Amino acid sequence: MIRNFTGIEQLSKAAAAYIIHTVASAVELKGFAAIVLSGGSTPRLTYETLSKPETAGKQLWQKCHIFWGDERWVPANHPESNFAMADRAMLAKIRIPARNIHRIKTEYHSPEKAAIEYEKHLKNFFRAPKPAQKTRSAPERTMPLFDLVLLGMGSDGHTASLFPGTPLLPDKKKWVAAVPAGIGNPPAARITLTPALLNQAKNSLFLIGGSEKRKILAEILSHPEKTKKKYPAAWIKPAGKLIWLVAEK
Ligand code: 6PG
Repeated sequence: MIRNFTGIEQLSKAAAAYIIHTVASAVELKGFAAIVLSGGSTPRLTYETLSKPETAGKQLWQKCHIFWGDERWVPANHPESNFAMADRAMLAKIRIPARNIHRIKTEYHSPEKAAIEYEKHLKNFFRAPKPAQKTRSAPERTMPLFDLVLLGMGSDGHTASLFPGTPLLPDKKKWVAAVPAGIGNPPAARITLTPALLNQAKNSLFLIGGSEKRKILAEILSHPEKTKKKYPAAWIKPAGKLIWLVAEK
């Protein structure tokens, strides 16, 4: 599904409403929600919208677990950190327990080690029984299921830190991987979730701004298989709903 908006303000309001609705439904159904935040700049206004008084104090944040789709290999308080952007825009202002914030740690000795540790963390989280879970204990899942994955797309069709030509796209085994420095903008090394994991989502929401990206989206939608060769975003085919929110500017 595609929803078009004239500006990023309208897109961000719609995205915030969708996030609240999805988290509330998941908490109601199973006692908790697990969502993945995107980095970059487009989502900032969405996060700021969620930090407004009418949503910041909602009880649902107590049971919402927040993960990241990717992170730059910089300290957590660095201006280029995806965690730092979300923390400033939202996390520091909403009623969410620190234990619910699962940032990709960049204090390890290498991005490769950080990727291994984040994958372990995700496996522990999704395997540990959830005391608050209302439904009978879910059967052991080999792959987790996020309630919501937020994604952006670069003007080269990258998403998360999956850049054109990366061997990670068809990888079915890895959940999290390191990306060498010098590829993205900023050119820091990165840690990224793989399509195999990002696609384990009941709801996936792309936040896209600008006409050049709209052209890429149109190409992806009209030739999904062919564009997989060019655009990593074409590899996002989630288990559940895929929604593109697109702003003219
Ligand atoms: C990152 C992001 C990246 C981002 C796109 C789009 O770490 O850079 O995760 O995938 O979503 O580059 O960024 P904008 O939304 O700022 O255009």
